[in-house]
Amino acid sequence: MIAETKSTGTFPVKHTELLEWVKQMAALCQPEDIRWCDGSKEEYDELCDKLVQKGTFIRLNPKLRPNSFACFSDPSDVARVEDRTFICSRWKEDAGPTNNWEDPKEMKPKLKKLFEGSMKGRTMYVIPFSMGPVGSPLSHTGVQISDSEYVVVNMHIMTRVGKKVMATLGTDGEYVKCLHSVGAPLQPGQQDTQWPTNPTVKYIVHYPEDRAIASYGSGYGGNALLGKKCFALRIASSMAREEGWLAEHMLILGVQDPEGQKTYVAAAFPSACGKTNFAMLIPPKELPGWKITTVGDDIAWIKPGKDGKLYAINPEAGYFGVAPGTNSKSNPNAMATISRDTIFTNVGVTADGDVWWEGMSKEPPKDLTDWRRQKWDPASGKPCAHPNARFTAPAKLNPVLDPAWEDPNGVPLGAFIFGGRRSTTIPLIYQAHNWNSGVYLAATMGSETTAAAFGEVGKVRRDPFAMLPFCGYHMGEYFNHWLQFGRDIPNPPRIFGVNWFRKDEKGNFLWPGFSENTRILKWVVEKIHGKSNAVESPIGWMPHYNDIDWTGSDFTKQQFDAIMNVDREAWKAELLGHAELFERMYDKLPKEFIFMRELLLSSLWRSPEKWRLEPETMD
Ligand code: OXD
Ligand code: MN
Repeated sequence: MIAETKSTGTFPVKHTELLEWVKQMAALCQPEDIRWCDGSKEEYDELCDKLVQKGTFIRLNPKLRPNSFACFSDPSDVARVEDRTFICSRWKEDAGPTNNWEDPKEMKPKLKKLFEGSMKGRTMYVIPFSMGPVGSPLSHTGVQISDSEYVVVNMHIMTRVGKKVMATLGTDGEYVKCLHSVGAPLQPGQQDTQWPTNPTVKYIVHYPEDRAIASYGSGYGGNALLGKKCFALRIASSMAREEGWLAEHMLILGVQDPEGQKTYVAAAFPSACGKTNFAMLIPPKELPGWKITTVGDDIAWIKPGKDGKLYAINPEAGYFGVAPGTNSKSNPNAMATISRDTIFTNVGVTADGDVWWEGMSKEPPKDLTDWRRQKWDPASGKPCAHPNARFTAPAKLNPVLDPAWEDPNGVPLGAFIFGGRRSTTIPLIYQAHNWNSGVYLAATMGSETTAAAFGEVGKVRRDPFAMLPFCGYHMGEYFNHWLQFGRDIPNPPRIFGVNWFRKDEKGNFLWPGFSENTRILKWVVEKIHGKSNAVESPIGWMPHYNDIDWTGSDFTKQQFDAIMNVDREAWKAELLGHAELFERMYDKLPKEFIFMRELLLSSLWRSPEKWRLEPETMD
């Protein structure tokens, strides 16, 4: 059978089951027409032009921002909607206490009703996409049906789309079914809005047993680009558990030392902790010869290799990064990446057709249009860009892209790093005693909420492995899955905790962050290669002041002591927070965790004299 495409003629689709599914979905959603996406540049350009005609996209000034667009979403559709996100496993206990659940027997008919006629007056796009390099043994395929051109062009950047993916599916290849509608059908003659959405009804639903996703009512980011959080994390984490691999909310970076030795590190930080900045770090000039390269900035798929090492790929092909706060100091490589071929959503637009957001420059340029399409009044107290404004940019434009970023076999991991936003308690850097205590460290990770994400500021929200909104099954089982890797793998990567966000009593950050984080990465890499020292503290291994390379830095020992301090009272409170988390998931909590918590508590009574961070305490 031949599927029609309007832009580039035809390409063969011989997958009977897929053709049948598309037929059924078309009968349900009743679109005006169907278009199979071939992934070509012509298709991308044509749909961007269409979005410009519809008024959704503004073409930015080609001299300042070539081939780039700005768009503005409906105010009801600006972020992921965690309270409308469901894991509809057959049994409630499989979704666990941290996910919204509804019986699929009830959810399916409810959604069927919503999708009925939901694409009227619109084109139904069929987007075959690969998460990971096409054909890699670590990659998986999805097919998204969507009635949004915005989704198609974003998927072009964020995933590998089209003909070549269809070719790997063949006649009966496996794929994840991703159904999406903005939930805004058009009656005959009805004028479309610039950002079609359903302002009142939104559902982001996952069926782990069916490996299927249905998203209704939102056109924004992770709600609508179903390859990202829905597939690559929620569904993939459940696939990974069944198949013995890991789907993680992690960036992957390469650290190259002056001798040319490369070590790959995967790191998990909750949302709003600067993951993209860390993934594109530029070392300070005082550390000559050290180089950081990016494999991925948000998601890692990790599988054990035949040699017993863990190998990781970045399943994505682009960056869907938070724009506000990005500037030439915080992330020069991101600024270079988004210099062209980028889609900006909910940023401000300058009078000469470029983009601007809070934090891009100290002084805002004159005559800005804000994300609500209004002339922006800096005195209004309202931000010009939405705090969750985003750029969608191709990874290929990243000046520090790792040469192996598309290696079909993935890159071998030497370390995992976990870090939340904590103004107290958690030190700048420490290494877990062993795999199990590392899994404990990651499972109990917490992060202070920011206004952008949760409204309430400064409350510690436990976010195990930074996966709280993204784990497709019971979190207690997820911990067990991680512990099992430690049993099965002869020499698993070392696990570290970091905290870039500790503050003094006056509320000032204790650590400069950004490129200075390289000093910490250097210690991590040297530590795993046995080239650096540490002292064993109650919570793990910690560098002495002199174990960190301070060349060209004026960070003093006193400052270091303050940021590395393990305060007994603060840690006792911290451990109560762990107990609270454990109670929530008691039914499937690994028994090891109960004992590890006790062990931690008892080691807090070790006299600090025995593990002081001064060099003279080293054996
Ligand atoms: C993201 C997130 O958008 O983690 O990447 O929220
Ligand atoms: Mn993320």
